[in-house]
Amino acid sequence: MDSFTFYNPVKLHFGEDALEKLPKELAQLGKKVLVVYGGGSIKKNGVYNAVIEKLQEANKIIFELCDVEPNPRVETARRGIDICKKETIDFVLAVGGGSVIDCSKLIVAGAKYDGDAWDIVKRKVLVDEALPLGTVLTLAATGSEMNSGSVITNAATEEKLSWSSPAVFPKFSILNPAYTVTVPKNHTIYGIVDMMSHVFEQYFHNTTNTPITDEMCEGVLRTVIATAPKLLQDLENFKLRETILLAGTIGLNGFLSIGSRGDWASHNIEHAVSAVYDIPHAGGLAILQPHWMRLSVKVNPERFAGIAVRVFGVDATGKTSEEVAYEGIDRLSAFWTSLGAPNRLADYDIDDEKFNQIVEHAMQNGPFGNFNKLQEEDVRKILQNSL
Ligand code: NZQ
Ligand code: ZN
Repeated sequence: MDSFTFYNPVKLHFGEDALEKLPKELAQLGKKVLVVYGGGSIKKNGVYNAVIEKLQEANKIIFELCDVEPNPRVETARRGIDICKKETIDFVLAVGGGSVIDCSKLIVAGAKYDGDAWDIVKRKVLVDEALPLGTVLTLAATGSEMNSGSVITNAATEEKLSWSSPAVFPKFSILNPAYTVTVPKNHTIYGIVDMMSHVFEQYFHNTTNTPITDEMCEGVLRTVIATAPKLLQDLENFKLRETILLAGTIGLNGFLSIGSRGDWASHNIEHAVSAVYDIPHAGGLAILQPHWMRLSVKVNPERFAGIAVRVFGVDATGKTSEEVAYEGIDRLSAFWTSLGAPNRLADYDIDDEKFNQIVEHAMQNGPFGNFNKLQEEDVRKILQNSL
């Protein structure tokens, strides 16, 4: 294991009665609350009313920022920051999926910064203070409810970048599986792919002696693989939603990368693709990540073979590690396809026309990847193989 300092201050309220914990949380915060949400799903499924009721009971003065888009835009965060500054907002409550939470993280940081919000995303400034943030999660996927990361798109420059700061960890997150039963099938699939992808990004590292986190990763993957097909047949099943919801949070709250440094190359390339084409994040991952894996087997075939056997049930008898590894990757790809995820860029009508721009975006900080350091030609190969 690598030496590490672990820090995650997010208080998680999980379960059917989780919203009952909101008044106590609110009591410790100021009077003016900015509620941030997306395109209206929370108004249809009753979550909006439930949250507003609690805020009113607590005598809060409520401001709203709606229409946060999937792949949230810096312009939208700027609108939220303007409200925070003009109205001297005390506290931001994000109600939605990863996009709403990520946008809210930029809002709470931007509210304490005099310059433009894009400076924060570009990491031109260090964020060391922010307004307090709470979340009510409605979609299992990103883990943003329990981490300090945020991914923001700038449509004008066609960039989609991640940034993070300990200052934007939510103070608390409320997770009620019942709030996720209305997530449509396609976004349920994307969420499942995204959380599995996060586990893979953390699993493939070059650190030795990591049996605890290896087992944790494999256990989360096995559980998601066993649960996902059942859930897609029974979208309103509370118990199945509960399992997937917790898997999404554990998938990216830092637990799985304790003592090791994963490799976020697939995410980096996906962000470059969706910056240009605005496709769903996990749709891109389902296409790209198996090709990153195929390119990376050579780095450590045994590690790929191990997961192929223990997670995908590949029979290793009489086969080389490489053969087992590739079989495992094929099974992963087939599993995602069986759920209904895309498996070719052509599924989104993407051809190689903008590959130069995508490669340039992905390479903007030079060669990347801790497990397999990718050069420009590697990124191009992954994209070509994904056509
Ligand atoms: O906008 P509304 O109307 O709320 O609809 C949303 C949206 O259309 C809908 N939805 C959410 N909860 C629902 C619901 N529909 C019905 N019932 C509900 N309960 O689902 C759609 C997608 O929502 P979104 O928030 O975009 O999805 P997700 O949670 O997958 O977030 C994706 C974003 O997170 C970033 C991605 O890049 C992408 O921008 N990521 C953030 C990470 C992080 N902060 O740690 C890590 C990830 O790797 C990822 O990059
Ligand atoms: Zn992701």
